[in-house]
Amino acid sequence: MTRVNPKLIIHGGASSLEDKGGLESVRDSLRGIVKNIYSLLDNGASAVEAVTKGCMLLEDEPRFNAGTGSVVQSDGQVRMSAALMDGRHQRLSGVINVSRVQNPISLAQFLQSQEDRILSEIGAADLSRELQIPLYDPLTDYRIQEWMEERKTNFNRKMARLFADSSAQRGTIGVVALDQQGDIAAGTSTGGKGLERIGRVSDSAMPAGNYANPWAGVSCTGVGEDIIDECLAAKVVIRVTDGFSLAAAVEKSMHESQTNGRDLGMISLDRQGNIVWGKTAEILLAAYHDGQGIGDTLEWHGENAGLIGHVAVG
Ligand code: GLY
Repeated sequence: MTRVNPKLIIHGGASSLEDKGGLESVRDSLRGIVKNIYSLLDNGASAVEAVTKGCMLLEDEPRFNAGTGSVVQSDGQVRMSAALMDGRHQRLSGVINVSRVQNPISLAQFLQSQEDRILSEIGAADLSRELQIPLYDPLTDYRIQEWMEERKTNFNRKMARLFADSSAQRGTIGVVALDQQGDIAAGTSTGGKGLERIGRVSDSAMPAGNYANPWAGVSCTGVGEDIIDECLAAKVVIRVTDGFSLAAAVEKSMHESQTNGRDLGMISLDRQGNIVWGKTAEILLAAYHDGQGIGDTLEWHGENAGLIGHVAVG
C-alpha cells in the first residue's frame, strides 16, 4: 500500500491569547506539540495513537482549558469531558464530567475497545479506579484565582442560579490527524465553559464537537451549546462524505454558524490531506503540520480574517 504523507492539526481553544502568556508563548507551546506528534506520525504511529498522545500533551499544558488548568464550575469543582473518534472504524468513545484524573483522553482511549463506550461521572470515576489510574488534582492556582475573582463580583447571582454568563470561556483542546495508512482520528478534551451549572454536558464528548470517518475528521471549540445546535463536527464530516470539498463544507457550515449567531471554532482535515480551520469567534489558537512544515492561525483575526483558512494539497 502506498504510504500517505501524514497531516496534523491541533487547537488550544478559541479564547484570548493574553491569559495564556501571549502570542509567542502560545505559539511555542502549540508548535512544540505539533513537532512532537508529527514525528510520531512520521515514524508510523496510527492516527488514534497520535491524537491520544497529542491530547495528553495539550491536557498537561496548564495554559489550556483541559486536564491540568481546566476551568472551575459554579460549585468550585473541576469536571472534564473528552472524546476520541477512530475515523477508520467510525467509532466514538468518551467521558463526560470526570474529576480527579490527569488525562481524560486516556480513559476515552481505553473505552475504544469496550462495549459501553461513553461514560459519565460515576461510571468514569469507577473506570478510573478499576484501571488503577492515580488520583490527580487538575486545579491550578491561576484557575482558583480566576474563580475567586468571579466570586467577588457576582458570586451570589451565579451561585444562586448556577448559570454561566456571557463571559463563558471558549477553551478546549483538540487534535485531528491523518496517518501513513490514510486513516483519520479526532480527539477533543475540555474543562467546560467555566461557572456552568452542575451536570451541564459539553459538546466535546458528542459527535457535534468531535467526529471522524474515513473521509474527514473535525474537532470543535467554542460555546458548547452553539456547537451542539449546529451539530458542527458531524455536519462537516457528512458534507465531505456526500461530496463537498472540505473547504466548501467548512465554509458553508461557518456561514450557517455566523448567520445563527454562534460563537465557535473548528479544525479539520480530509483523507486527501487538505487541512481547513474555521471560526466565528474572534481568535482560534491552532497549529498544524502540512507534511512540509509547521504553521499556525494565531495571527488570523481582525477585519480581514474571513471565516475559514486552509492549506490545500498541492
Ligand atoms: N466547547 C466546550 C464546552 O462548551 O464545554
